[in-house]
Amino acid sequence: MIIKKPPMGWNTWNTFMGSINEQMVKESADAFISEGLRDAGYQYVVVDDCWSEQNRDPVTDRLVPNHEKFPNGMKALSDYVHSLGLKFGMYSCIGVRTCAGYPGSFDREFLDAETFASWGVDYLKYDGCYFPETTDQENMYHRMGVALENCGRDIVYAVCNGGEADVWTWIRSTGANMFRSTYDIMDNFRSYYDIAMSQKDKFCFSAPNCYNDIDMLTVGIYGNGKIGKLGCTDSEYRQQFVLWCMYNAPLMLGCDIRSMSAATKALVTNRDLIAIDQDDAARPPIWFKHRWNEDLRWAFKHLSKGYALALYNFSDSDSKIQFLFDSVGITVASGLKARLTDIFTGECVGEFRDCFAADVPRHDVKLYRFELVK
Ligand code: GLA
Repeated sequence: MIIKKPPMGWNTWNTFMGSINEQMVKESADAFISEGLRDAGYQYVVVDDCWSEQNRDPVTDRLVPNHEKFPNGMKALSDYVHSLGLKFGMYSCIGVRTCAGYPGSFDREFLDAETFASWGVDYLKYDGCYFPETTDQENMYHRMGVALENCGRDIVYAVCNGGEADVWTWIRSTGANMFRSTYDIMDNFRSYYDIAMSQKDKFCFSAPNCYNDIDMLTVGIYGNGKIGKLGCTDSEYRQQFVLWCMYNAPLMLGCDIRSMSAATKALVTNRDLIAIDQDDAARPPIWFKHRWNEDLRWAFKHLSKGYALALYNFSDSDSKIQFLFDSVGITVASGLKARLTDIFTGECVGEFRDCFAADVPRHDVKLYRFELVK
């Protein structure tokens, strides 16, 4: 399966963990339409771990959907999702058990790929827990890669091994379309900050058809999900979303999309921001940091047309952040000026020759479209 853009969608885990069922997945699929998510480009409705019975079918050996949570089975649910013009995603694991202890796909890869295809699955998140220690993790990911390629249906292969075994160095060869590079995100500032910083030098391994996945977003959870009660402020969620977009990371929402705040909805459907994430060139940003204060950082990204500039204040106090154009090869002698437009306000903030500085509140970000003009 070939994909040219980082996938966008929603996943059940961050807010609900095992508390999932057919009704809430259907309502969330409906919210893709009513909340404008589908129109903004979100496509995948993904059911994460805890969807199955504790054991396989004793006769067919196939995975069985939990009868109470999904009384009509997965095909009926996927039909519903498809009827809304959306795509359906599911979850399994390379191990004998999934990370939450349900049956995994170890040694049943081809059977399970065929089962997922028969249910109309378009996206498989494939986790990395509980594989026999004497087996090789890399080989396990090859197995499902080949199984999906031969199951008769196009299925996005979303690998999730928490970044173990230097996954970025071999994962493209398995047929994966995206790969988790970090351990699980929690709903707080420190967690998304550490994840984003840990991958600063790893985005050279992320490109069309196989994207570095820095986890489902926590934007809009406000501490109400099952992955941490601390929560973030709106400015922190803005910072998180900009980090993901500047990286061309998959945008998988993790909040309860049936009841998003106005700020969350405006942020995750911001077309200019999403265009930066989905930019065809998928180039990694160039990172800079303040000489004495590494909590002040900025990133510059070559888009397929023009550039984007993000000024991040990760520190605990409001600060001014300055970007020197010479750092990215834009010399004064070039005769070029930079015209900056604030992505959030749409306002043109002016034209500048050699540098630009802006006040950025604590735990917030400023983001600009950066065009060079004569
Ligand atoms: C791992 C993954 C999470 C989630 C859980 C499910 O921890 O990283 O995203 O899928 O497993 O058990």
